[in-house]
Amino acid sequence: MNKISSISEYNEEYQKSIENPEQFWQDKASTFKWRSKWNKVLSWDFNTPKVEWFIGGKLNITENCLDRHLELKSDKIAIIWEPNNPEEATIKITYKELYKRVSTFSNVLKSHGAKKGDRICLYMPMVPELAIATLACARIGAVHSVVFAGFSAKALAERIDDAKCNILITSDGLFRGDKELCLKAIADTALNNCNSIKSCIVLKRTGEKVTMLENRDYWWHEEILKVNDSCSAEIMDSEDPLFILYTSGSTGKPKGVQHHCGGYMVYAEYSFRNVFQYEENDIYWCTADIGWITGHSYIIYGPLLAGATTIMFEGIPTYPDAGRFWDICDKHQVNIFYTAPTAIRALQAYGTKVLKKYSLNSLKTLGSVGEPINEEAWQWYHKNIGKEKCAIVDTWWQTETGGILISPLAHITKTKPTFATLPLPGIQPCLVNSEGIEIKGNGVQGNLCLKFPWPSMIRTIYGDHKRCKEVYFSTYKGMYFTGDGCKRDEDGLYRITGRVDDVINVSGHRIGTAEVENGINEHPLVIESAVVGFPHPIKGQGIYAYIILENSSISEDKLVTEILETVKNEIGSIAKPDKIQFVGGLPKTRSGKIMRRILRKIAEGSLSNMGDTSTLLDPLVVDQIIKNSK
Ligand code: WTA
Repeated sequence: MNKISSISEYNEEYQKSIENPEQFWQDKASTFKWRSKWNKVLSWDFNTPKVEWFIGGKLNITENCLDRHLELKSDKIAIIWEPNNPEEATIKITYKELYKRVSTFSNVLKSHGAKKGDRICLYMPMVPELAIATLACARIGAVHSVVFAGFSAKALAERIDDAKCNILITSDGLFRGDKELCLKAIADTALNNCNSIKSCIVLKRTGEKVTMLENRDYWWHEEILKVNDSCSAEIMDSEDPLFILYTSGSTGKPKGVQHHCGGYMVYAEYSFRNVFQYEENDIYWCTADIGWITGHSYIIYGPLLAGATTIMFEGIPTYPDAGRFWDICDKHQVNIFYTAPTAIRALQAYGTKVLKKYSLNSLKTLGSVGEPINEEAWQWYHKNIGKEKCAIVDTWWQTETGGILISPLAHITKTKPTFATLPLPGIQPCLVNSEGIEIKGNGVQGNLCLKFPWPSMIRTIYGDHKRCKEVYFSTYKGMYFTGDGCKRDEDGLYRITGRVDDVINVSGHRIGTAEVENGINEHPLVIESAVVGFPHPIKGQGIYAYIILENSSISEDKLVTEILETVKNEIGSIAKPDKIQFVGGLPKTRSGKIMRRILRKIAEGSLSNMGDTSTLLDPLVVDQIIKNSK
């Protein structure tokens, strides 16, 4: 089995993976079920860019997630589902049932004309059917594009259009805490503006009344009665696309990051098993939403490939109270728990009294992902949740990397608060200065790049390979640039310091400043806006918007409300600014570029050193902004 069991073994494996990467990954890949073996392990060129793994290999990832386990594990629980409302019943689905339900839904998709290579959009709550639909797409060779159910109709439409999806799978509504959201109504608005969708399959979840359009909208529960439960898996090439997942970047339009079948499969499983040191019969829970990469790789694919029991949670950490996470941990005797720093900080704010009711004894390993974890949150997690006996794995990775790249291996790598510590075998990080020169040695800081491919790396941006090259492979020649800043300490341990581009990380969600600006600018009275991040005690970063308005008689309070509503409609609630400041002008260079560095300083409240302001067109603007800053 592909599992490292000591630090010396890690060192050996790491060494092997660098000296002979092809041999290394070939060994890892050979534990899976391939319909036919690859004829070449790797071919790559970061300039084009073109990266291919297990070339010529044929497989279907769902045969590895499901069929492969049927012989020995058919009655093992694959998914435990915890509803938003704790009074509703938990659902447990065995590997055999999951296999059947995925096959059934695969047939539904086929009955709607879906075939290999089609793109299918999923806009759903965190219910088992989301995992089932995702796997069903993979089973028939369709490319899934899961859109987080917090995005607005406009954002959904944009993503459907970009990928030219022909089927949309959604639900009548969703429950999130004490809120209910009518997803179908949002989907309807989106579909008014998209013409690629031929069928929309609707799962009944909340029971609210929805409009069903004849010959386009179909109920999930009716469709599954029309087909049988056996569906042979489509045979895919290792380099056929598996999914697209949209993520934000420095420029306005979200990017459809594309991952391919073979390499993604190998790395998702390998990283899952090793980082969490998964042991057979562990109960594993990742609290992410499947709308993000963490949910793809570490709720669905990684755990199911490993034959694990994975928990899916529909709700939020504070409903019905701030003990919900811990209640679920005790209820299902969770051994491995994986969440985001923002959730830890939010729960930390409720104090430790809430925790008294729970034993948390089953926990062995705690994970963190999505943003830098601050020392205080790390210590709180370690002491109060891990009772000082659990390993904490601070896992650094990205939508584009497909899997965890830098992280301790639980109970093996010595941890250090706020440090993601060491690269996984096969991963070759390097720090470069602004000229792209590698900074060698320890006790240094720079821009984090990767100089060698790994199996689950991004292959392209859907429909825009040029952009893929520009964004990731052009800043520093011959390297993949992550967009993150990073330190390497005296012992060679890595600490991610945060984004160095115009992306902000709000509660672990990546949001492009340009995207928010475009949203704000949709308000008819907005002339111009500039958005930056600022430190936020719970969210990690908050969104600060500086806005120039046209003259009007509308009150500022009303305008703030309207602008927030505009952003909500354009993108979704996650992109709503935390602070809005109306300004008379923005600090611009003589060539008209906004000096965000200055705006960032003001938003952070660090007014003492503004740096070089000599290139400013009008330095007085800065004084004005400081005077009125929030
Ligand atoms: C940030 C989430 C510090 C980072 C899996 C990265 C982190 C971006 C960590 C990717 C971590 C993620 N420590 N920063 N452990 N994990 N990040 O694509 O800035 O949603 O570039 O993938 O989150 O966010 P994404």
